[in-house]
Amino acid sequence: MKEKLEQIKNKAEEALAHAADIDALEKIRITYLGKKGELTAVLKGMGALSPEERPVIGALANEVRSFLEKEIDEKKSQITAKLQNEQLKREVIDVTMPGSKQDIGRLHPLTKVLNEIKDIAIGMGFSIAEGPDVEYDYYNFEALNIPKNHPARDTQDTFYIEDNIVLRTQTSPIQVRVMEKQKPPIRVIAPGRVYRSDAVDATHSPVFHQIEGLVVDKGITMADLKGTLEAFMKRLYGSDTRVRFRPHHFPFTEPSAELDISCFVCGGEGCRVCKGEGWIELLGCGMVHPKVLANCGIDPEVYSGFAFGCGLERIAMGRYDIDDLRLFFENDLRFLKQF
Ligand code: DAH
Repeated sequence: MKEKLEQIKNKAEEALAHAADIDALEKIRITYLGKKGELTAVLKGMGALSPEERPVIGALANEVRSFLEKEIDEKKSQITAKLQNEQLKREVIDVTMPGSKQDIGRLHPLTKVLNEIKDIAIGMGFSIAEGPDVEYDYYNFEALNIPKNHPARDTQDTFYIEDNIVLRTQTSPIQVRVMEKQKPPIRVIAPGRVYRSDAVDATHSPVFHQIEGLVVDKGITMADLKGTLEAFMKRLYGSDTRVRFRPHHFPFTEPSAELDISCFVCGGEGCRVCKGEGWIELLGCGMVHPKVLANCGIDPEVYSGFAFGCGLERIAMGRYDIDDLRLFFENDLRFLKQF
């Protein structure tokens, strides 16, 4: 029996020496120490031994068992450590390698200028309104007092979707939508894309952007219009900027005006940008026509208001000294990366 135990010990040791992975170890454990294992079989056969032999063989068997258990454990740690090392080697990260560079995006120049305008307007107590690009004839023309025979309604100028549905040609319809929903006091600006049936060149595009402004309350006068727009322009172009108003005509304002600002390049001396004029034409404005107020359910006997509308591209072109409108829409990165 003693020999048998020695044999088991040697065989197991030999097998352990060759075991290369955890599975092989487990097999060895089962073969010798498992319920039906060889060592277990020996222990089970102890009953047949004489009372003198039993403690001796018992002690020896236990010794072999502890020995094998210890060996298996050790081998297990070795194999685990080896596997872990191999894994670490495989997964090693060279922290000195240059990282993959993320290109940082940037805002489009039109978005930048619009954000600036919104900030100024919000600072002056305006809120931001929006309206749909696809608009009813009613909002784009009719409610704004633009008569049926007005040249702006011509298909030469307007994209018609259906007889009474157009791509808005101006942001002014948002005025009507705001006044229908909201009662005075009203102070909003409304930026948006507008569409006109124009061919593309350096100063024209079938799609461009406008910003509309509208103020309606009791006792609003032309003086409010002038003061507000002058303050606005000084914020946008610098405190030295001067403004002038020239009489004009828009169907939805009475009286109407155009606003010029002193040239932001030469300060009024006359240069290439202002074409020697010293002034740059910037926006249309006027006192909201009483008929427009009435169309929106606001009593023109009680309330009055002023409105203005300007092209965003025109402002951005002045701001960044850009001489071709197409640059805004071509999305050439060499251009966009300059902002
Ligand atoms: N909607 C006009 C245009 O597209 C611009 C304009 C002029 C808007 C006067 C206004 C205004 O609100 O009062 O040319």
